[in-house]
Amino acid sequence: MSQSIQSHRKDEHVFLAEKFFQDQAAAGFEQVRLLHDPLPETAVADVLVAPGLFNWQWPFFINAMTGGSKQTGVYNQQLAAIAAHTGLAMATGSQAVALKEPALAPTFSIVRETNPTGFLLANIGADKTVAQAQAAIAMIGADALEIHLNAVQEIVMPEGDRDFHWLTQIKALVEGVAVPVIVKEVGFGMTREALAKLKTAGVRYVDVGGRGGTNFARIEGVRRQGDQFAMLADFGQSTVESLLEAGASGLTILATGGVRSPWDVLKALRLGASAVGISGLALHWLIQEGPAAAEAHIKQWQAMLPALMAMLGARDVKALQNVPVVVAPALASYAQQRGLA
Ligand code: FNR
Repeated sequence: MSQSIQSHRKDEHVFLAEKFFQDQAAAGFEQVRLLHDPLPETAVADVLVAPGLFNWQWPFFINAMTGGSKQTGVYNQQLAAIAAHTGLAMATGSQAVALKEPALAPTFSIVRETNPTGFLLANIGADKTVAQAQAAIAMIGADALEIHLNAVQEIVMPEGDRDFHWLTQIKALVEGVAVPVIVKEVGFGMTREALAKLKTAGVRYVDVGGRGGTNFARIEGVRRQGDQFAMLADFGQSTVESLLEAGASGLTILATGGVRSPWDVLKALRLGASAVGISGLALHWLIQEGPAAAEAHIKQWQAMLPALMAMLGARDVKALQNVPVVVAPALASYAQQRGLA
């Protein structure tokens, strides 16, 4: 595949993610109710949202999307500036394309140039070698590495990978790189069994990457004539179901997929996430309203989080995890059928 075809694919992903943005977000958060305590016995000024995972100032971050084409390099630069101004951590999109075509590396390294001191996450697939992972980390001076798991996306792509023997390589990557490694689904979620396999491979951090937000089966499907994979539109575990799967995993859990409000962030934290990723929404703000408005939206979330936590009587994330929860029958049934607590 030539450089221009791969770059074009990156631009198409952005275009299609944005096209479908409005009719998505069924990540299961609507099936979770946080109960109101009319006597919160706390104050907004008492609330501490930091330090979070990896000492982050905020419990949410901008997750992997862009880089690999001229236009997505511009988005990376704009997102990195927003991350710098708001103190959010940020991941780049998959750097595989730049490992193949070094001329595309600047569309990724721009994030470190723009945000010299922020927390940045590199991103590669589970088929990459330790040397490739180290190159991706060095490319952006990354503080952590995300390894994405995207079997569904690969199957939907006629030119995609057909070999998913990944665990041995994941183990080698965790052992071989010097930064923390987060294994991440890209939108089809996790099972308890997969989490146990990852734990056995030495993985400590997993982003459950649940269904309900950006859907790569759909995005890859419509990139070609006659989408034979439309049947997969509802495939996978939602972000909320995946969080239930992760409940007793003993791993540090991140949650991405269909997070669309600070309320969703709080629900994900309540269900055990240590940090919450937003992708499609950040891009949506950027494309529709521009960088200044995107930054203003994030600052609004940052103002709302302590306010909502005080309202819930939670001084910090640990206290938030004690807020009583009631779940909808479908979710309770899921948990019961899966034998989850
Ligand atoms: C993504 N995502 C993604 N994930 C990853 O690990 N590597 C990647 O290269 C990409 N590329 C990418 C491009 C675009 C345009 C989007 C919108 C998303 C997936 C992303 O990190 C996240 O897991 C999903 O998008 C679900 O979150 P949202 O979009 O529902 O918040």
